[in-house]
Amino acid sequence: MNDNDNRNIRDDGDAVNELTPIIDYEDLSHVVLSPEEQAYEAMIRQRIRERRRAAERKRIKRNRTVALILVMVIVLIVCRSCYASHRKKRDEKKANTEVSAVEKNTSSKKEETDSGAEVPAKTAESKPEEPAHKIREVDGLTFVDDILIVNKTYSVPDDYAPGINSAAQAAFDEMMNDALNDGVYLYVNSGYRSYDEQYNLYYNYAYDRGVAEADKYSSRPGHSEHQAGLCFDVNSTENSFAGTTEAKWLAAHCSDYGFIIRFPKGKEKYTGYEYEPWHIRFVGIELAKELTSKNLCLEEYLGLTSDYTLAKEPVSQEKMAEQLGVTVGDPNEVDETAETDSGSYDNGGYYDNGGNYDNGGNYDNGGYYDNGGYYDNGYGY
Ligand code: DAL
Ligand code: ZN
Repeated sequence: MNDNDNRNIRDDGDAVNELTPIIDYEDLSHVVLSPEEQAYEAMIRQRIRERRRAAERKRIKRNRTVALILVMVIVLIVCRSCYASHRKKRDEKKANTEVSAVEKNTSSKKEETDSGAEVPAKTAESKPEEPAHKIREVDGLTFVDDILIVNKTYSVPDDYAPGINSAAQAAFDEMMNDALNDGVYLYVNSGYRSYDEQYNLYYNYAYDRGVAEADKYSSRPGHSEHQAGLCFDVNSTENSFAGTTEAKWLAAHCSDYGFIIRFPKGKEKYTGYEYEPWHIRFVGIELAKELTSKNLCLEEYLGLTSDYTLAKEPVSQEKMAEQLGVTVGDPNEVDETAETDSGSYDNGGYYDNGGNYDNGGNYDNGGYYDNGGYYDNGYGY
């Protein structure tokens, strides 16, 4: 067969394929095959069939392998997403650990019957799961059920400086006027305090009395509600303020204005601080009334701790003393090794100021006392 019949030859000599067939087959239908040739053809056909079957088997095998790989990839993706969701749940659970812990504590406590007899609390199995309080962190602030929490465990950033909260101030002003109508004079002894002011206050206590003592009644910088602008020290910050007409009026009425006595008597193990009859925290009327009527402090109600050793960046009393360059124990009668407490509250009693000046809160300046919210003798609560 002549190639030139099936290809165009360009002038430059390149061959270009056309659609015309390259080979012309002869019509062989008229050819009669001999038995040998027929046998040979049958063998060829058989081989072709075998090859096709082998190719088919190979194709099926390849498809199976691809399918297997696909299944493995899908399983891997599902496993990964399951693990991711498990991790997310675990993190959420971790965030609510404190809540659960206190809820557990609460459920393991004994409940009193109407007759006053104690009965064991319901077991975890029999008690339906209560929804945990929601803990949320925003810009270094911790909110639980939308309440800003500032205590030994939860701090605010050093540069958090909102000033006094306007709603808290308005509530205090209204309360002060109503108290005055009842013949009770209330004034702000200390309101908003900046980080630096709190630092100075705490430092002075720690320097004079040691960190262990200071931790009982003064917040470390970054851990005071005063820095959040949500609390007031009312009238006197001496222990003898307790029991005065002013303190009684405050305790009886402050919830009507959205305040709670933040560090109540008998709740030291929850709040981490000694009883402060003068320190009121604004939480809004509804919550204030609920807490007061149930005789619960904020930590107890929300299921939170107040402990420096449980803070995000735990700082022991030893570390604190080292940072400030002061002692852990009383520097005047130091037995340093004896004071290695974690920072949790435990003084076995109340703070005794050793006879410092105390007028029981009946401060009379003949008018409205206003020191701009900062009690500037280097001390304050
Ligand atoms: N006296 C309270 C605990 C404070 O320093 O904020
Ligand atoms: Zn205070």
